[in-house]
Amino acid sequence: MDRRFSSIAAFEKGAKRRIPRFAADYLFGGIGAESCVLRNREGFNRVLLRSEHLCSADHPVCHTNLLGKRYDAPFGVAPIGLGGLIWPRAAELMATAAKNHNLPFLLSTFATTDIETARAAGGDSTWFQLYPMIDTDMEDAVLERAEKSGYEVLVVTVDIPTITRRERDARNGLSVPPRFELSTLLQIMARPGWALQTLVDGIPRFETMMPYVPKELSNEEQIKFLAGAINAHVTPEKLARLRSRWKGWLVIKGVLDTADARLCVDSGADAIVVSNHGGRQLDAAPHALDMLPMIREVVGPDLPLIVDGGIRSGLDVAHSMVQVGCEQLSDLPEHLLD
Ligand SMILES: Cc1cc2nc3c(=O)[nH]c(=O)nc-3n(C[C@H](O)[C@H](O)[C@H](O)COP(=O)(O)O)c2cc1C
Repeated sequence: MDRRFSSIAAFEKGAKRRIPRFAADYLFGGIGAESCVLRNREGFNRVLLRSEHLCSADHPVCHTNLLGKRYDAPFGVAPIGLGGLIWPRAAELMATAAKNHNLPFLLSTFATTDIETARAAGGDSTWFQLYPMIDTDMEDAVLERAEKSGYEVLVVTVDIPTITRRERDARNGLSVPPRFELSTLLQIMARPGWALQTLVDGIPRFETMMPYVPKELSNEEQIKFLAGAINAHVTPEKLARLRSRWKGWLVIKGVLDTADARLCVDSGADAIVVSNHGGRQLDAAPHALDMLPMIREVVGPDLPLIVDGGIRSGLDVAHSMVQVGCEQLSDLPEHLLD
């Protein structure tokens, strides 16, 4: 093990030393007073695990069968929009790492690596996360590219009903490409490794979406165009359209409510991601762990439930599994573990 990075917390500290402050604020910040971000971390401390030492189990089994594929561990990489701002080619690098460890990797619609490059890097562990679009021709074109490049799992995010305004990003004047104001330039100069790598790889752009953006638009107009292209409020009709359009596995991400969970089942979803978007959307949102038992009751014992928010260790993964209804790894339902 690399002694500098003995935990995710150590990685976070290291990242803050290597990336400009505006990028760190974008990565680590939440919405409002960030109480939901805090709650996501603290939620895990409330779940206690009682260990059984004298049972006759063999080695722990960590692999997971999920949506037609066997992965080596019960966790994966969540979608991150604008990852190239945090580190150049972040999505490509993480897709490759996920493939090497046989873990799922979710590529965001707003990744800065395009859909084809990410699939080539991550192989069949790569899933595509879609923000539904207003223009169905544009949406169909993106889905067609996903199909052609071999994606089997589509994750539809439903928890961004409107454009989000996070205070740290507003304060930093966060924009794509970065606005070169004095304070931004000073932050960049303080992180020469990041600056050099960005120079080599180029200013990050929303690569999957760029073919649909009119060429004559200025940078600022391009961002406005893309923000306006997203069908922020996802209705049951929209889900029905996507279900009939997408022949592969369909996952709905951003569910915290039992009525929504039932709707996902009725819409033919193959799995649900119980998530508050890492505390980045609604500061009053509950911790996903608190909603899991109720959602499990509504969707029944068989629908795979995926959970995120504040997970920073294997212990947090174990806590989440307990809350999904597995007292121990060997209690996982058939489709999650064999
Ligand atoms: C910088 C950043 C960008 C994100 N971009 C997306 C995105 O494009 N699509 C999406 O569905 N979720 C996005 N998320 C939410 C994550 O996929 C995930 O739900 C959340 O980060 C989990 O909480 P955690 O950060 O506490 O682990 C983003 C999260 C972060 C931190």
